[in-house]
Amino acid sequence: MCGIVGYVGPQDARDVVLEGLRRLEYRGYDSAGIAVLADGALSTAKKAGKLANLEKVLADRPLPAATTGIGHTRWATHGGPSDANAHPHVSADGSVAVIHNGIIENFAPLRAECEATGIEFASETDTEVAAHLLAAAYREAPEGETRLADAMRAVCRRLEGAFTLVATHVDAPDTLVAARRSSPLVVGIGETDDGAAEYFLGSDVAAFIGHTRNALELGQDQVVEIDRARGVTVTDFHGAPVEPTAYTVDWDAAAAEKGGYDWFMLKEIAEQPQAIADTLLGRLGPNGELALDEVRLSDQELRDVDKIFVVACGTAYHAGLIAKYAIEHWTRIPVEVEVASEFRYRDPVLDRSTLVIVISQSGETMDTLMALRHAKDQKARVLAICNANGSTIPRESDAVLYTYAGPEIAVASTKGFLTQVVACYLVGLFLAQVRGMKFEDEVAAVVDDLRALPDAVASVLAEMEPVRGLARSLAGEDRMLFLGRHVGFPVALEGALKLKELAYIHAEGFAAGELKHGPIAVIDQGTPVVVVVPSPRSRESVHGKVVSNIQEVRARGARTIVIAEEGDDDVVPYADHLIRVPRTPTLLAPVVTTVPLQVLACEIADSRGLDVDQPRNLAKSVTVE
Ligand code: M6R
Repeated sequence: MCGIVGYVGPQDARDVVLEGLRRLEYRGYDSAGIAVLADGALSTAKKAGKLANLEKVLADRPLPAATTGIGHTRWATHGGPSDANAHPHVSADGSVAVIHNGIIENFAPLRAECEATGIEFASETDTEVAAHLLAAAYREAPEGETRLADAMRAVCRRLEGAFTLVATHVDAPDTLVAARRSSPLVVGIGETDDGAAEYFLGSDVAAFIGHTRNALELGQDQVVEIDRARGVTVTDFHGAPVEPTAYTVDWDAAAAEKGGYDWFMLKEIAEQPQAIADTLLGRLGPNGELALDEVRLSDQELRDVDKIFVVACGTAYHAGLIAKYAIEHWTRIPVEVEVASEFRYRDPVLDRSTLVIVISQSGETMDTLMALRHAKDQKARVLAICNANGSTIPRESDAVLYTYAGPEIAVASTKGFLTQVVACYLVGLFLAQVRGMKFEDEVAAVVDDLRALPDAVASVLAEMEPVRGLARSLAGEDRMLFLGRHVGFPVALEGALKLKELAYIHAEGFAAGELKHGPIAVIDQGTPVVVVVPSPRSRESVHGKVVSNIQEVRARGARTIVIAEEGDDDVVPYADHLIRVPRTPTLLAPVVTTVPLQVLACEIADSRGLDVDQPRNLAKSVTVE
């Protein structure tokens, strides 16, 4: 949600900032802007629409070369996507340029206060107040080298809500000052080939992984000052010095490139076998035991757990729904799964023996972060499953299990999702192991099944050509249904979400057995219905029930698209289109059955001429509530 880039160093800031914006555009793409500080003057350019629009403006009217610059790509909250509302925002006296991610909740009284001094606002954004307040605070701050940072601290103490702010001031060449509260910001520290120091700011490390792997994590309510001569200084909002945590970025710059694919999403779908293998790597012991060294909860704490909540949003929530089946089955601990935006508001029953598993690819989703904080306030233990090293959610959790999916750039989550599901299996199995709920050979058997998943996913991917053809034939549809039972139900929900967000086709996922209780009324001649069929080996004839459900919808005219495992002949007479997946143990089946649904949604969107990687109205990381 809004991408932020800052640069101070010997390179041309225009190029570095623009390159950072290209890498961060997935965070928000309804407008973009850049400001550079050259010869004691600010120059800005901003434009509604995708970054390409800004690039055209810059080609016609280049900004001056500079060594200090900031850039922003926006996902609108206050004020629609327009040139005027695009960031950076410049103070009325022209001294300060500010970019912002988040929401300044008390912006209305602050705006009134600024207007009372005669300032005329140029935009409808909450951000603009920060520019005017910062300019005023700078004028009032004592002279000295920390004057801009002092002013930023004074402003931050007045702001309510969540924000990352980055500012540059005409009187402070080669300096950037930034602040964060509940919104992401990382610092990159690099060195050019000739040994000169350079500094970066970014909403995430994608902003600068082409330049450096050395990064600093910032905590809540901190201000960072970056000065080419004096380096990096971090304080809290009251000026007390803080020692930031340094870390090395393990993502590869090439992993954030399309690598010959038309869409990042296609590349990320193709990377899934490797991402799963990487997520398992080092966690499966030689004798089939699990070794989750980074789960910083003691065996006793894990034995004391009497209830689990899984809390997440969107696709990550669907991973949580799958986790419930596996964790309850393996551990007999009750598991509740909840969307993060609802969790804290209903006052859930939590205590020291509750384990809350928060799942987030980005590690910055505000709803999930707030749920995490609520759980910690109630003394529950929090375990994060996360893909982004150095992000807020793992930092604030008691324990973390990283998924090693690498950077996920497409807004629609694919490899992020499958690795979250795999991480959930690891957590469930680890709990069963620690609590003695499974014999060693039982754990080892599931571990063997997990090891087979990368090849199983690769074999699904190798057979996707017919799915592409099917997608083209579905491109004109305006609605689709997805059905599943048991672990196939969350897969159906995920298939429907993918189709909605990418192809803008109204899609709903249902528990297959629930269909006859109402939704079946919407089926008429030709309605496409995707059915995720469980293995014929699944318990209590779930398979047979789903085969009956396929017949029910077909009898009402549905065009059935059936995903079933190899060798399942029962479905053949009722499938208008049959997509085969390899035989996989029931609980692990979502890892293979999800893949054709990802490809289907991606290809339908592509056939409709849509932007697969950056669907309308969405942003990759939702950092507002
Ligand atoms: O970064 P997170 O995993 O916390 O993101 C959660 C959701 O916003 C995300 O999964 C969203 O639903 C995706 N666009 C789905 O493809």
